[in-house]
Amino acid sequence: MLARTAINELLQATEPRNSVRICGWVRTRRDAKGFSFLELNDGSTLANIQCIVDEAAPASRSLEGVNTGAGVAVTGDLIVSPGKGQRWEIRVTELEVFGLADPETFPLQKKRHSDEFLRGIAHLRPRTNKYGAAFRIRAEAAQAVHAFFYQNGFFYVHAPILTGADCEGAGEMFRVTTVPHGIPYKAEADFFGKECKLTVSGQLEAECLALGMGKVYTFGPTFRAENSNTPRHAAEFWMIEPEAAFADLSDTIQLGEDLTRFVTQRVLERRADDVELFNRFVDEGLTARLQALADTPVARLSYREAIAVLQRSGKKFEFPVDFGQDLQTEHERFLTEEHVKGPVAVYDYPKNLKAFYMRLNDDQETVAAMDLLVPRIGELIGGSQREERLDVLERRIKELGQSLDDYWWYLDLRRFGSVPHAGFGLGFERLIMMLTGISNIRDVLPFPRTPGSLEF
Ligand code: 4AD
Ligand code: MG
Repeated sequence: MLARTAINELLQATEPRNSVRICGWVRTRRDAKGFSFLELNDGSTLANIQCIVDEAAPASRSLEGVNTGAGVAVTGDLIVSPGKGQRWEIRVTELEVFGLADPETFPLQKKRHSDEFLRGIAHLRPRTNKYGAAFRIRAEAAQAVHAFFYQNGFFYVHAPILTGADCEGAGEMFRVTTVPHGIPYKAEADFFGKECKLTVSGQLEAECLALGMGKVYTFGPTFRAENSNTPRHAAEFWMIEPEAAFADLSDTIQLGEDLTRFVTQRVLERRADDVELFNRFVDEGLTARLQALADTPVARLSYREAIAVLQRSGKKFEFPVDFGQDLQTEHERFLTEEHVKGPVAVYDYPKNLKAFYMRLNDDQETVAAMDLLVPRIGELIGGSQREERLDVLERRIKELGQSLDDYWWYLDLRRFGSVPHAGFGLGFERLIMMLTGISNIRDVLPFPRTPGSLEF
């Protein structure tokens, strides 16, 4: 009974069809002499289909109260539209109303709404052109990620979300506990007999799996309690973390480049209409920029060179530029937007800026780290070759004031059959920002979690 044809499929018809049934939401209703026109959208694609109800047809009796937002099913004949602006339309024979939407209170009336307003109705915004397109692109990009790794022999693995280890050592973790409020906290009395956190990264577990399966990747939610209210940080975001044994820094830079270009090309091919929407209304030049990104190799620049470029730039930066200073977003954006004018991988950062697990270079001063920077976003990927030498790794953990006991299993990987290996983390929301031109991370997550905001 609920059989239906999706609108995306119907719009690809090559000849008229009798008696098709579609379901969707009314985007607009327009009444003319003798006819009513309903623009229906079912979310399968950006385009609506125009449905025409003849006043004389029995279906017109069901039109009462049908307005923008109503959920309906329509049966009718698909015919070549004599009107302008669309190839096909449906001559309605039956109209079934699932649910009406009161025009006085339904917030999505036909006009452009601000992103801010739509954030407040995140439960309804998937019904708008823009957010439908963003979340379809998100879905396509996720499939493309899996396709890329599948084609390249990586196994999809799952890292735990509940963890006792702090991978990045940045101390920005959410605690998880079953100890009721008001009771003094004792880790031994908590659910796991120790403190539990939400993971900031699946890397350490991915390393264990890679050092047995060769090439793996995770793709899952990660959590960071960074109290930074920027348009590029969310408290819950999705990360893709490939890890490969028998690989070095340059292999992992190449992998990051290949992945980014592959996903971009796929989205351009398979969601062209949605990308075009963003190109027209959100970020002029997006399509051309994405095509260039898919076609062009990623530039590479050592951290030392990057610092020299920034110093020579003559630009006034808010934050200082000196060897040993972290690159701030303003520096990253200068490098990628103005210096390279495209994506760039910066590598060999000073060790004091990076996490304990990154491989110490022979200069004893830098580590085999890399960040892949892209225009408008800055850091899309952060990764490294991993320290595979037990003694060096132990020294680094101690230098950073962390406990060897916490990492006994991670250190075992270096005790038994240690091999060179490397990997990275790609922030999936930042990738979607890049693919859509959307400038705020709150608008590429269906239900964003950011400081002070936990609605829906
Ligand atoms: O550079 P990060 O912190 O690297 C890691 O976590 C490594 N363990 C990854 C690895 O080597 N397996 O984070 C990786 C990426 C960043 O480049 C950024 O794109 C994204 O994750 N990211 C965030 N995205 C949204 N909101 C946040 N708060 C983010 N923090 C990092
Ligand atoms: Mg990073």
